[in-house]
Amino acid sequence: MTFAIVVGTQWGDEGKGKVVDYYAAQADIVVRYCGGANAGHTIVSGGRKFAFHHVPSGVLYPEKINIIGNGVVLEPKKFFEELGQLDAVGIKPNIKISPRVHLVMPYHVAQDGAEEGRKGALAAGTTKRGIGPCYSDKAARFGIRVGELLQPELFREKLHTMHTLKVKLLKEVYGVDFTQSEDEICKLYTEYGKRLAPFVADTGEILSDALSKKKQVLFEGAQATMLDIDHGMYPFGTSSNTSAGGACTGSGIGPTAIDEVIGVVKVYTSRVGAGPLPTELNDATGQAIRDKGGEYGTTTGRPRRIGWLDLPTLRYAAHVNGLTGLAFTRLDTLSGMQKVQVCTHYELDGKKLLIPPASYTDIARCRPIYKSFAGWDDIGADKWRACAKGGMKSLPARAQAYLKFISGEVRVPIYVIGVGAGREDTIVLKEVFSKKA
Ligand code: GDP
Ligand code: IMO
Ligand code: MG
Repeated sequence: MTFAIVVGTQWGDEGKGKVVDYYAAQADIVVRYCGGANAGHTIVSGGRKFAFHHVPSGVLYPEKINIIGNGVVLEPKKFFEELGQLDAVGIKPNIKISPRVHLVMPYHVAQDGAEEGRKGALAAGTTKRGIGPCYSDKAARFGIRVGELLQPELFREKLHTMHTLKVKLLKEVYGVDFTQSEDEICKLYTEYGKRLAPFVADTGEILSDALSKKKQVLFEGAQATMLDIDHGMYPFGTSSNTSAGGACTGSGIGPTAIDEVIGVVKVYTSRVGAGPLPTELNDATGQAIRDKGGEYGTTTGRPRRIGWLDLPTLRYAAHVNGLTGLAFTRLDTLSGMQKVQVCTHYELDGKKLLIPPASYTDIARCRPIYKSFAGWDDIGADKWRACAKGGMKSLPARAQAYLKFISGEVRVPIYVIGVGAGREDTIVLKEVFSKKA
């Protein structure tokens, strides 16, 4: 029996979806525990490409239970769109949604856009999916939960209070006319409620039962450590606890249940949205990596900012999450370069920093200090795939040296190495679940 968390160690888009899809093959249950439709998790399986925003990345295995835990915020429209896309290719996933999940309402989306417009230099460049306003309402105890959609009178009453308040807020503070009427939203969401009802289940109970029956459970992180509301680069992150602790609070399981925490590490840095990025490459090298890796946001299509790998961030992620293993991705993307750099530490006001400071204004002043590595050749897709079978020792020697250096610096062993986007392009050094017959 294993309960394992897969978590992003950087600024998101590390390749969590791919790693979850790999380990999910041996899991009984896959659980999303944070975020909402801001996430974009890409899986390439059997030559087909899927991008998931709401549904857990275990859905490609129809026999698995896929849980949307209480820490998630759900936008029903997007959720049903995603189910429709899966249905169109013959996939009917087994999804269970916690009644404690908060609903993203149309006024949250309007509020997200309006607030971003007023934040000036403090705007994080959100995905405009209403994430911040929805979590704000949750914390302020104004939120509407999935379970309440199933109680029409309570839903109507809460909607009335919130709609009146939000129309006024949007108009009088932000100068935005929010024209969708209460009746219209009530009708739309009541319909969603009917469609959501078959999915709603006590997901905490399912997990507690799984624990007592010694099942294998995989928790799928969305976003990443540096986007965490508490531990990330505030305010340039998202609004939920995206790091490993969030897997417990966002699903209803105690920390003693967790056996493994796998940190997904892209072998360089990428970032969508605003905020300081110490190792950013605003040059031809950055552009070349972006082009080669097709580094454009899965959710918004925005070009991702690119930088060298940042060890201070990774050391920090190792202790914030309690990482037990590393899953490297994109070794193939970083190939074919003469020289590859890694930021080993920062310098700030004459001091050497091994982890990032708490304040973004200090991070912005940090000078990244680099160690250079000789690059490794791009051996081509077929040979990369062959490495997936041959194991780590079949990788170019310089690539092995690069990965071993990083793992040594953060003192976390390597579990996985990604050498391509496909499920088959994966070198696995450690399975976290016992293989089933
Ligand atoms: P997530 O949000 O962490 O799940 O990551 P995204 O799906 O947003 O972005 C990661 C991208 O990298 C996707 O397009 C994946 O298909 C791709 N990917 C993941 N691992 C690898 C890898 O090892 N090599 C290559 N070339 N692509 C990868
Ligand atoms: P996955 O799960 C990368 C970023 C946004 C913005 C900030 C806040 O695919 O790794 P939000 O809409 O959450 O209020 O935006 O966080 N962001 C992500 N960046 N990958 C993601 O998810 C992200 N989810 C949010 O760009 O800077
Ligand atoms: Mg993504």
